Amino acid sequence: MEYADEGNDEYLFEAARDAAERSFGKEVYLRGLVEFTNYCKNDCYYCGIRRGNANAERYRLTEDEILFCCDVGWNIGFRTFVLQGGEDPFFTDDRICQIVRKIKETRPSCAVTLSIGEKSLESFQRFYEAGADRYLLRHETANEWHYGKLHPASMSMENRKKCLHDLKKIGFQVGCGFMAGSPFQTIDHLYDDIVFMRELEPHMIGIGPFIAHRDTPFKDEPDGSVNLTLKLLAILRLLFPKALIPATTALGTIDALGREKGILAGANVLMPNLSPPHVRRKYLLYDGKICTGEEAAECNMCLRRRVERIGYHVADSRGDHPDFVNERNEHDVESGI
Ligand code: SAM
Ligand code: FES
Repeated sequence: MEYADEGNDEYLFEAARDAAERSFGKEVYLRGLVEFTNYCKNDCYYCGIRRGNANAERYRLTEDEILFCCDVGWNIGFRTFVLQGGEDPFFTDDRICQIVRKIKETRPSCAVTLSIGEKSLESFQRFYEAGADRYLLRHETANEWHYGKLHPASMSMENRKKCLHDLKKIGFQVGCGFMAGSPFQTIDHLYDDIVFMRELEPHMIGIGPFIAHRDTPFKDEPDGSVNLTLKLLAILRLLFPKALIPATTALGTIDALGREKGILAGANVLMPNLSPPHVRRKYLLYDGKICTGEEAAECNMCLRRRVERIGYHVADSRGDHPDFVNERNEHDVESGI
């Protein structure tokens, strides 16, 4: 799917950049990503770590390994840690809560983001009480028919949306999102996405191109395009001027300068990988994923340079949503960081 209209693209990107600048100046926020398990009980057709992919080499990080990743990230200045993984039953609510508590114990001023899939309201509540601040759960598509083309019948759009509403009710900063150019996606589906997002009012929005993985049912489907991804980023920035919107690794994978282009189309977050190098190649959601060979410190320096080269700078703060300052994150306000 392509909607080329190059004459107007630059105008759109410039308007989106201006909107981001009005809310955040020229600041870009870093989130240290810890991909702590690639076991998953789900079988999403697009995803390289789906249960049905017998070729995926499975791994789980231990609690100590996860905490070590956070130490490394903390020492290079990251103030948000994103724990992401497949829906792995090994990581029970008790285990997740214990990890969140331990991360917060020694680094109370950091933010912890969870991205571990669909859970019950009670589980989300426990994560929040353990100290988790934010939750990323892309809705993937807001159109029921399209949802059914991307997922097996055991998964439902209704539950995905319910989870997002539950998370908001509890008080999390909530992120939704979808892949640009996912198989079967039409412009009408993108319209449905926008309508859903206007209703949810997410604090974070994750948009990256779909990229085929060779061991999935979508192996022969075309990748999403850079241009469509950038247009969507820009439109969403204009609709949600205060949202935290990453220029994703997937965008950097289909275009060597994709993340810079994303920032110049209104994105304001980057998510460098903090996972230990020996597992990075195993968290392969799609083919050709970048940054699978580097150490955390190298990724950090590389991204900082890229941000500076386009006239932006990396913020030291933990980068909460501007409307979201309460007793849980007052550190930012009190200490001015
Ligand atoms: N299990 C958690 C969940 O479902 O939210 C988090 C992990 S999941 C792998 C994170 C995101 O990766 C998904 O929401 C999806 O949008 C994205 N993703 C998966 N496969 C992809 C692909 N082939 N191309 C681009 N993005 C992909
Ligand atoms: Fe579970 Fe992709 S199918 S993380």
